[in-house]
Formats: sequence, C-alpha cells, structure tokens
Amino acid sequence: MLDLHCHILPGFPGGPVDMEAALQLVLSASSRGVAAIVATPHFLESDFRPQVQQAVSTCAALVSRLRVRGSLIDIQVSGEYRLGQRLARAIVMDQTPALGLHEGRRVLVTQLPEARIPRNIVSVIEWMATQRICPLIACPEQHRDVLRDLQVLEPVVAAGALLEVNAGTLAGRRGPYAQRRSRELLERGWATVMSSNAHAGDAAGALLEVGREAAAAIIGESAAWDLVWKRPAQIAAPHLLGRSKA
Ligand SMILES: [Fe+2]
Repeated sequence: MLDLHCHILPGFPGGPVDMEAALQLVLSASSRGVAAIVATPHFLESDFRPQVQQAVSTCAALVSRLRVRGSLIDIQVSGEYRLGQRLARAIVMDQTPALGLHEGRRVLVTQLPEARIPRNIVSVIEWMATQRICPLIACPEQHRDVLRDLQVLEPVVAAGALLEVNAGTLAGRRGPYAQRRSRELLERGWATVMSSNAHAGDAAGALLEVGREAAAAIIGESAAWDLVWKRPAQIAAPHLLGRSKA
C-alpha cells in the first residue's frame, strides 16, 4: 500500500513527539504492508521555504535511521495545504513540494477551509490548473458542507480536483454520517485514493488496512486495492522513486 497523506514528521503540528516515535510509526506501517509514505506536514508560517527545508532535513534524518534498522520503505516530503491566499502565493513562488503528478499537473494535498467551501471553488481549481497544480482534496467526507449535501462536491470533481477518502472514516471511526459520505464517494467513483491522514498515536498501516477492507465490502477487492496501491502509485511512484521533478 502507499499512503499519500500522513503526518509522520516530528516537529510539525500533529506529528509524532520525537524521532523515535516517528521511527516506530513508520516501522509499524511497513510491517502492515505500506511500501511508501508521503509526509504531509502543515506549513503554518506565511513563508513556506524554511518549513519545507525543515521537513526535508527531518525526513532525511528519519530515512537515515530507517536504513540503519534495515527498512527500505520510501518516504518523501510534500505538505498539506489549506486552500487560500497563502497557498496561492506559495504556488506562484514555487514553494509547494508536490507528492506526484496527475495528467501533467503537480498534485498537492489540499484542505478545504473549515468554515465553508468557497463559492468560487471552481475558479480556484481552474486557476490552479493554469499553474500546473492539481488539488487532492483531503478528507472531503468530513467537511460540514459535504455532510449537509454531497452534491457540493460535484462541481469540484467536474473542475478536475481529485478527492481522497479517509481510511478511518470509511471504517466508521468518524461517526456514521461521515462514514456514509465516504461510502457515497466510493459508490459514485469520486474517490481517487484512500489515505490514512495518520497523526501522532495513529497507526497508519492499520488504518489503511481497515479502510481497504471496508472499501472492499462496498466496491470489491480489486477496486479497493486500486485506492491504496494502483492509483496512488500512478500519482506518486515516479516521485517516490526519484524519477520526477514534481
Ligand atoms: Fe492531514
């Protein structure tokens, strides 16, 4: 399995308390069959550059420790970016490491604003396309507007954004309403990938496993594996293997 959305770096919000905890989290994921992880820290300061540099150096230290322990799991740095002016500025200034490519566009895990989905969301996605950026919307099934009405996502999908479904939500760990929405994302074929969005204390591999099993009960084994292997690999594998500048 590949996990494209995981808060695995210590020193960033929601991440493990220290490097040892990060190491254990990754080794645990690896033992559950996770072959590669994209670290997606939140960058909270307005200038993304120093935070990206910190993430890259922290990731390198983590990978170095993993190699000492004999683990060959791949880890790369991207980010989880909140939709808004700061992200737009960072995109223009080329300060947003991507997790991979989709149809020639650099893929960014993108959070919807907490309050409301912006009315101009389609224009924003279209602008991102002009910058060769493709948003992968993080955990859309948990957003209050989506809980109210799934149809708000239709123009988002039509505009070319990708949707991620959260493994834990699909397994019922966010309550029945979000679970129902996550199920509907699968039934409509709107979810491109499944991710763990694991934070400190979560077991990313176990989450992906229970999420995949829940998906298999809805869309079948093969399609469920596509969510955690085939499609994430299509997006991120060249990046993880160092064959892309994305
Ligand atoms: Fe996240």
